[in-house]
Amino acid sequence: MKYATNGTSPNTAVVGLQWGDEGKGKIVDLLTAEHDVIVRYNGGANAGHTVEVAGERYALHLIPSGILNPGKRNVIGNGVVVDPEKLLEEIDRLRSRGVKIAENLQVSDRAHVVMPYHKEQDAALEEFLSNVASSERGSLAIGTTRRGIGPAYADKINRSTAIRMGDLLDAEYLRDRLRVICRLRTAELKALGVQAPPLDPDALAERFAKLGDRLRPHITDTVYALHDSMRTGKTLLFEGANACLLDIDHGTYPYVTSSNCSTLGIPPGTGVPGNNIGRILGIMKAYSSRVGAGPFPTELLDETGNLIREKGREYGTTTGRPRRTGWLDLVAVKYSSMVCGATGVACTLFDVLAGFDELKICTQYRMADGSIVDRFLPDARMLAKATPIYTTFKGWTEELRDVSDRKSLPINAAKYLAFIEEYLGIPIEMVGVGPDRRHTLVGV
Ligand code: IMP
Repeated sequence: MKYATNGTSPNTAVVGLQWGDEGKGKIVDLLTAEHDVIVRYNGGANAGHTVEVAGERYALHLIPSGILNPGKRNVIGNGVVVDPEKLLEEIDRLRSRGVKIAENLQVSDRAHVVMPYHKEQDAALEEFLSNVASSERGSLAIGTTRRGIGPAYADKINRSTAIRMGDLLDAEYLRDRLRVICRLRTAELKALGVQAPPLDPDALAERFAKLGDRLRPHITDTVYALHDSMRTGKTLLFEGANACLLDIDHGTYPYVTSSNCSTLGIPPGTGVPGNNIGRILGIMKAYSSRVGAGPFPTELLDETGNLIREKGREYGTTTGRPRRTGWLDLVAVKYSSMVCGATGVACTLFDVLAGFDELKICTQYRMADGSIVDRFLPDARMLAKATPIYTTFKGWTEELRDVSDRKSLPINAAKYLAFIEEYLGIPIEMVGVGPDRRHTLVGV
């Protein structure tokens, strides 16, 4: 009997293997040339992808990075939560810089809408939790981006209080729904201590119906659009936002975001089954960073951490917050590549590590009871008890930006990469040695 396999699917997924900000935008931008349709499947305007093209820097939050390449179609799938005002701002900003946005951008009619009250709820809940710190454990606040992501996904699960992009195209339906939702939300916000006048459903309905009108040419059934594309021989590139360790099910819960950011989120977030993904490229930076609260075993709270932050320009694309920085945690990355099914890895920001006398990579954890583990602990309470066990490497002084292939890397830099490859058991297919597209060693 013959069995079908998915080994030949020409579609690719790009996913972050750490806590975000791995430089996915640049890799997606590079791979775009080989694909026809670029697809976002999760998250919202909490994500920030920075892409540098010909010395121009673009910060993208909702629109797939493929938008910078003429001739490609860009799809915001049903798994994304869309803030229509932010989306239109992004469209206007890109257009003012000469980027064409027309039928090359499609937004799922089933993607959920981030409403202004979601952002208020997000901020109010964070404030509330910061102020009622439980005695020993400190604050329960997540340190969210306050973009309304959690409350919007919560409404998706609640169902009766949700609004989807398609709903914006029916003004009457929208107003009727908002009349009920606003009553409920006004009461909830008051309970969280927000001193504001009651939400006005009619004004909100009018404002969002207008936004819907502007977005009308882009709103469509993206599930059929994607399947139609595949049927006519087009290839898809799935662009993960946030990252695997922030996945609602598989990340360091509860310090995670509210969507399935691992590749496991692709089927529900797009309507494309998993057997349509042939290549999964996991993106990891050569060290670690994290924004917001939550355990981070290899965090460096010293000069080395500061130096990595400055050299790596580790400040949030979305919120401008300084990122927490630390040594590479390979226990975490190996776990993420397992969950995501990574077939290869891109190691980004490698140039940042030049100039250190020595470098460390975490390969195991020592637990509070003295036991040693080499499995990740995707639970904040457990991970907080883990101390990293490091392998130490000699550093290198040469800057890497002008290196054009892996063979020309300084010997100590090559050893660092070889160790990662050996530990993960999957090939490093790309190495980032600078911010521009051309600063990437490909096919290594
Ligand atoms: P939220 O997604 O705004 O609810 O934030 C939840 C947590 O995920 C916070 O710690 C954020 O800092 C973090 N987070 C969300 N999106 C990103 C991202 O794209 N990069 C890095 N951290 C993120």
